[in-house]
Amino acid sequence: MGFQGLSAYGIISERNGVLSLIVKMANNISEIIKVDEKLQHIAFIMDGNGRWAKKRGLPRELGHKQGAQKFKEIVRYCGDIGINAVTVYAFSTENWKRPEREVNALMKLFETYIEDFAREMMHYDIKIKFIGDMSRFDEKFRKRVAELEECTKSMKLHLNIAINYGGRDELVHAFNKLASEGKTEITEEDISNSIYTAGCPDPDMIVRTGGDLRISNFLLWQSAYSELYFTDTLWPDMTPADVDEAVKEFYSRKRRFGGL
Ligand code: FPP
Repeated sequence: MGFQGLSAYGIISERNGVLSLIVKMANNISEIIKVDEKLQHIAFIMDGNGRWAKKRGLPRELGHKQGAQKFKEIVRYCGDIGINAVTVYAFSTENWKRPEREVNALMKLFETYIEDFAREMMHYDIKIKFIGDMSRFDEKFRKRVAELEECTKSMKLHLNIAINYGGRDELVHAFNKLASEGKTEITEEDISNSIYTAGCPDPDMIVRTGGDLRISNFLLWQSAYSELYFTDTLWPDMTPADVDEAVKEFYSRKRRFGGL
């Protein structure tokens, strides 16, 4: 099922609920995908940085550096197509087991990007939130994170960056928080309001790059009804066109939420 119509910019077409605008610029025909309220939140498991680097004979750290560049591009693209919230899995509670050199390189990247965002935030319109157990990070880092969250809080696109994040760890924190408040009858709503992503809608789709078919302790509570999309593309090779493919796949699925 679909329709086509003319707009001031080109042809608007709709197939399986995905709106796209076909525009002719000079001799190029481009398709611009737009999402609607069915797809508000996409989460990404950004896997494959190490393999990307290895394929090029580079140290793994450079794969993460390339992955961080890609992260910026993809988040901005998600904003452009009308997504309201993006969550990225940048560092798990298990990633501390990696060699010290790699962990240090990732920490340095996070610091650099926090400064980068703080400097350029007016160009982004992105509301940044770090999710995960921040108590593992030093005071200075936590202060910068809090400042960045505060000064971007009225911006549009929600960006949750998961660092030292584990889905089980998040639930343990939520349950302990509720217990410390004296709650004895805990509801689903209590839990949703006590996890790190409280206030943000659950992800409609989780995209995992790098070919593995698992969730790896990511958004365990929030992913109850998320559509899962796996691609062999390594994260640093991810392009806006790959996001379009995932979006089209999302709109081709029938979400029933347990109903008929
Ligand atoms: C998994 O790939 C990726 C990570 C553990 C790190 C992801 C981090 C980034 C993309 C940087 C993001 C930066 C900011 C500022 C949010 P892997 O190393 O396990 O890949 P492999 O499976 O090929 O070894």
